[in-house]
Amino acid sequence: MTILVTGGAGFIGSNFVLDWLAQIDEPVVNLDALTYAGNPENLASLEGDARHIFVKGDICDRALVDSLLAAHQPRAIVHFAAESHVDRSISGPGAFMRTNVEGTFTLLEAARAYWSALEGDAKAGFRFHHVSTDEVYGSLKADDPPFAETNPYEPNSPYSASKAASDHLVRAWHHTYGLPVVTTNCSNNYGPYHFPEKLIPLMIVNALAGKPLPVYGDGQQIRDWLYVTDHCSGIRAVLAGGRLGETYNIGGWNEQANIDIVKIVCALLDELRPDPAGKYERLITYVKDRPGHDRRYAIDARKIERELGWRPAETFQTGIRKTVQWYLDHPDWVARVQSGAYRDWISQQYTAA
Ligand code: NAD
Ligand code: DAU
Repeated sequence: MTILVTGGAGFIGSNFVLDWLAQIDEPVVNLDALTYAGNPENLASLEGDARHIFVKGDICDRALVDSLLAAHQPRAIVHFAAESHVDRSISGPGAFMRTNVEGTFTLLEAARAYWSALEGDAKAGFRFHHVSTDEVYGSLKADDPPFAETNPYEPNSPYSASKAASDHLVRAWHHTYGLPVVTTNCSNNYGPYHFPEKLIPLMIVNALAGKPLPVYGDGQQIRDWLYVTDHCSGIRAVLAGGRLGETYNIGGWNEQANIDIVKIVCALLDELRPDPAGKYERLITYVKDRPGHDRRYAIDARKIERELGWRPAETFQTGIRKTVQWYLDHPDWVARVQSGAYRDWISQQYTAA
């Protein structure tokens, strides 16, 4: 048996592939276009491991997807590939529509053709697992209950609109064609291999470089943080036991304001890598807010717990300490992802602020 993973060289996808092969002796075909966010170095520990078959390619390439399905006959597709950064979706939404909407459509059509031709147990057991986000539900007010699977979709950014569109396509392919799908909507992840354009890794690498720590607006926006390997175990649980056509929210029961996250990171760095120049908090700099910035996300993860017995294994205290330590232990990885393209993005994003 084999699974096909898309986007398995990105942050969550690479953690998922590493975790999968550490726990399950089932090969993974990993289809990734290696955009700026895809990094084969995340998978370096799998070099020479015959269970990992890496294919550089685009999910919008129907002929390629068809050929991979025919050659490897996977029992499941786990679909991570996406443009994932909200700020980039504001400055350039086109890539988000192409990969997140057209790419998901292409995969669904390829999966439908492949699945339709299967028979017996292979057909009954096939799964298309769509990895999505809590951002499709929009923004919560301070007193609102957390997002449940029944919340209406109210996406506010080009990124979340493109993910909402992909979720709707997945739903429709199940409803209309019977394609055996499951969807997970997860909150903010953090952990190893997180690209340093997102809040937590950006704060760590900037602090270590003595650079400003840019906090958008008043810093009081709230996110619900989940350690990445807990997201991976949630996906495995839903892939194994989720009901077809259902969506499952995955979250960390850990709501934190951005400014508090930044202060926690600073305090950990003060402890683990003290800076003779002073406390890292001195680098906190309030900058212009993100346009259309969602105020609060929070996940009600009771359905996945009730139906599948999943709960996060890490607390925020244990997860954030491991994360900061990982960045301290991997300066070479950080240096190499800070390529020319990354530096261009950072100067474009933060000099206008
Ligand atoms: P990421 O940006 O780190 O990685 C995305 C990966 O997809 C990269 O390896 C990239 O090369 C690949 N990719 C992009 N376009 C492609 C294409 N056209 N064809 C093939 N591969 C392509 O993203 P991430 O943070 O790891 O997120 C993975 C998935 O999880 C996304 O679908 C995202 O919406 C979802 N998600 C992310 C979070 C989070 O906090 N990061 C939370 C919930 C859900
Ligand atoms: O909620 C799940 C989503 O979480 C995923 O679907 C996305 O793919 C993922 O990127 C993430 O989106 P966010 O926009 O919440 O993550 P980001 O790390 O970009 O920002 C987290 C919060 O921190 C957000 O309120 C914006 C703020 N922020 C971010 C950056 C990069 C800052 O204040 N300063 C910054 O420099």
